[in-house]
Amino acid sequence: MIKKCIFPAAGYGTRFLPATKSIPKEMLPVVNKPLIHYGIEEANKAGIKEFGFVTGRSKRAIEDYLDYAPEVEQSIKGSKSKEKLLEDTTKMIEECTFTYVRQKEMKGLGHAILTAEPLVGNNPFAVVLADDLCEGNVLSQMVKLYNKFKCSIVAIEEVPKEETSKYGVIAGKEIENGVFMINNMVEKPEPKNAPSNLAIIGRYILTPDIFNILRDTKAGKGGEIQITDALLEQAKNGMVIGYKFKGKRFDCGSVDGFIEATNHFYNKIKKNNNSEK
Ligand code: UTP
Repeated sequence: MIKKCIFPAAGYGTRFLPATKSIPKEMLPVVNKPLIHYGIEEANKAGIKEFGFVTGRSKRAIEDYLDYAPEVEQSIKGSKSKEKLLEDTTKMIEECTFTYVRQKEMKGLGHAILTAEPLVGNNPFAVVLADDLCEGNVLSQMVKLYNKFKCSIVAIEEVPKEETSKYGVIAGKEIENGVFMINNMVEKPEPKNAPSNLAIIGRYILTPDIFNILRDTKAGKGGEIQITDALLEQAKNGMVIGYKFKGKRFDCGSVDGFIEATNHFYNKIKKNNNSEK
């Protein structure tokens, strides 16, 4: 049973400067909801109500967003259309719990996940990188798979070979349609060194033995502690699955992906509104 979801959100978001100078990348809105909101909704659909955030300096906007805003609520009282805009968010805040830990030094995604250990304890957990905005309930698909295999799972998708240097890339044996038993993983390989074109995207389910492995994982690519290196170790000791999810991912950590997502979700909302009329 996966009860908790961790959002590593301590990175600097340098591809989005200057916007990310004072607000976290996870708070950038796609249409009218910040990225973090989409991630929480996806996890909610997978039955998860407990959330842990790895934050850093200048990330307090996340905590404020996931709390009541009495002054705002008061000021829109009586305006049905405006109350409706806040309705789902208030319900989400009521139903979920949010805890926070600070990563004091940005030593990489693996290190951020290790920093979340006190929030997770000895339980399997999900990890969402909110800048990968997914459509198609990807976490729900992964939770289902976890209930069958009871091992760590990474979401993967095919990317053009020339883009492998942006991702962790896996190789493995396809044991079911779209389900790969991983036997190799490389962080951001140059295309000529990539073991395949199956790239890891920002959705993980991890078993808690990953923490001990992370404690022993040395800095890798870019001088950072990489979750990819720890997962390869876990795969060698047991089993890690790469899952080719059904759905669509938008890379909202890049300006192009962010604009694509904005257009996509805007058109979707407009279509829904028109069909409701
Ligand atoms: P990214 O590689 O996207 O880095 O991190 P970034 O800093 O967010 O963005 P750019 O590349 O500078 O534009 C992947 C995820 O890991 C988190 C980030 O917040 C993001 O969700 N992360 C990364 C941490 O929490 N801590 C770290 O030390 C590094």
